[in-house]
Amino acid sequence: MTEPNGLRAADLTLEEKAALTSGADFWTTKAIDRVGVPSIMLTDGPHGLRKQATGNDHLGLAGSVPATCFPPAVGLSATFDPELAERVGVALGVESAIEDVAVILGPGINIKRSPLCGRNFEYMSEDPIVSGAMGAGLVKGIQSQGVGSSLKHFAANNQETDRLRVSSDVDPRPLREIYLRGFERVVKDAQPWTVMCAYNRINGVYASEDPWLLTQVLREEWGFDGIVVSDWGAVNDRVAGLVAGMDLEMPSSGGRTDAELVAAVRDGRLDERDLDVVADRLLELARKAQARPATTGPLDVDAHHALAREVAGRAIVLLKNEGTLPLPRNARLAVIGEFARTPRFQGTGSSQINPTRVDSALDAIRAVAGDVPFAAGFDITPEGVPEPETARLRDEAVAVARDAGTVLLFLGVPSHEESEGYDREHIDLPAAQLDLLDAIVEVNPDVVVVLSNGGIVALPFARKVPAIVEAWLLGQAGGSATADVLFGEVNPSGRLAETIPLRLEDTPAYGSFPGEHGHVRYGEGLLVGYRWYDEKQLAVRYPFGHGLSYTTFAYGEAVAAVREDGDVVVVVPVTNTGRVAGREVVQAYTSLPGSDVQRPPHELKAFASVQLAPGETASVTLRIRRSELAYWDIRVDRWIVESGAYVIDVGSSSRDLRTSTTVVVDGDEVVLPASLNSSFDELLLDPVVGSDLRAMIEERYGTGENQLLKMLGNFPVGRLDGFPLPRADLVELVERAQRG
Ligand code: BGC
Repeated sequence: MTEPNGLRAADLTLEEKAALTSGADFWTTKAIDRVGVPSIMLTDGPHGLRKQATGNDHLGLAGSVPATCFPPAVGLSATFDPELAERVGVALGVESAIEDVAVILGPGINIKRSPLCGRNFEYMSEDPIVSGAMGAGLVKGIQSQGVGSSLKHFAANNQETDRLRVSSDVDPRPLREIYLRGFERVVKDAQPWTVMCAYNRINGVYASEDPWLLTQVLREEWGFDGIVVSDWGAVNDRVAGLVAGMDLEMPSSGGRTDAELVAAVRDGRLDERDLDVVADRLLELARKAQARPATTGPLDVDAHHALAREVAGRAIVLLKNEGTLPLPRNARLAVIGEFARTPRFQGTGSSQINPTRVDSALDAIRAVAGDVPFAAGFDITPEGVPEPETARLRDEAVAVARDAGTVLLFLGVPSHEESEGYDREHIDLPAAQLDLLDAIVEVNPDVVVVLSNGGIVALPFARKVPAIVEAWLLGQAGGSATADVLFGEVNPSGRLAETIPLRLEDTPAYGSFPGEHGHVRYGEGLLVGYRWYDEKQLAVRYPFGHGLSYTTFAYGEAVAAVREDGDVVVVVPVTNTGRVAGREVVQAYTSLPGSDVQRPPHELKAFASVQLAPGETASVTLRIRRSELAYWDIRVDRWIVESGAYVIDVGSSSRDLRTSTTVVVDGDEVVLPASLNSSFDELLLDPVVGSDLRAMIEERYGTGENQLLKMLGNFPVGRLDGFPLPRADLVELVERAQRG
């Protein structure tokens, strides 16, 4: 390979430039041998490398080279630890480099708008700060190894139903404050080499051909300087896409769309300079890929498996524990549930990794506690089994449970119920599993439920059992990590990055998800996730941010101050008041009483994960960026920080707030030009003429309780000729206000 260094679009023919803009095949770009441009590989992602050696598809159907399967995003995000995400990113970068992969397709940080999204296992959170911070950690780690990442799916791709065509109809505030905010953070903090545009449309325009999204927002506002790659098959109109800022079409179009670009230049529909800009960016990507230092394998399989186990242990969320956990090593246990023997450790679709090995929880538990009895309890095959077999499996398990001290009951969502490509129909565990639980609790109430699921599930049995462990999909080492937590080798510290509601019917998008006739209306607006439950004061099963530990933490008083750069720093002392070492995830939520705009009751703005020895106190510092306090102001189309006394609540979950403080923030000014269409209320606030207007009205109509002003307040001043003041006076006031 020759260096493409110094090579520019101007050195290429029109056909060569067009050739650069689409794939050679499923996973690689085209080489241009004449001038030494190499072909590079882009492949999935996100929680492991999926490099297909033989057979190409993007649905995970054909096999791929063995790679470490780290916990999918649903698990990783529960660690609330961007530094840990960065370590995973480094490992992903190393594995990609060994396999000569230039760009790994991830992370995916779309917001979990509804628990029904079939792909929620691949996404981080219902909250943009968690999604953005965790995504940035992964990108930094990956790219530290000279490998590019692909931040996806940009944007508002929050369902699988009709995903290639549906229009996500979102108002500007939720679009900016919820759905784009995480992407903005990753782009600004970590500069991913590539951003993958989503399949769907946003407010009617395909993401792959939306100049507002791909150029104005991404490049001009956020400063992105990498390349935009289409999701596999997201291109609708290639020429429109190129002009909008969509650089690389994947996979190959067999040359069809390259020819379309060439023809468009020739007949004047496409300015060749637009193609040059894109070709230059693609040459730059090839240069970056070539600059990666040479990597020598082989992959350290054991070290990466150990990291996968550490992360999985940190991802597990202890939802409930009335003292059963941690288990003594000599506990008289029974393990029940097919998921203990046949782990569900990742989701189905393009992210499906061929793991280097897989730990089952059953083996890991037996390695600690000896030959523990096991019963499958239920079937998890897509075909199912006839009723007599269901009954036999249940009865056999109940018999095993009856003789045990503590029952470890592994329940979960069978893989065919959640996948890329289609959405879930409900959030319930299969009836056979719920029946099994009821039958077991009757003979032995000492039951620890361990859950395997990519999307959250309803937990109607939460009061019936003493302990519930949320073990998500945890990657290839999830089984041993689960045993680590059950026996107290690892003190759980995972937190819910999404609310577990009582019922599907309570969820914010219920009734509008997944839309119809090509449109889905995001009618809940800003009230996504905990923002919704808190606004409506709805009870939930377990709130956002929740997660127990085997120790306890006490919070001192939080103090906050505004730094010179405008960011807010919150400091809070946190003490481990228990007898074992543990990790607390300290969370800071803000609100602004009396705000001029609609705001959820409180919003997470910063968090920190801190490890504490028994008795140790740490002074935890949380930094709230000034930009995170801003709302999107639709009057001026920009971010505005309101002035005021912001309340900062700090605690252990969104509904377990331990200490509160306020900080006065000097906000941004919004100056709206005065006109005859300004309301009396607005003109009264004008710094130049406001007091004159008040004086003129009071002169005519008197002072005191001014009912007239109250009634007229929302009237445009120019609307009623001669009332309440002569028009000429009002025109003069408006003109004076305009002059400033
Ligand atoms: C998925 C992407 C994935 C791509 C390549 C698409 O169907 O939406 O997430 O990276 O395929 O496999």
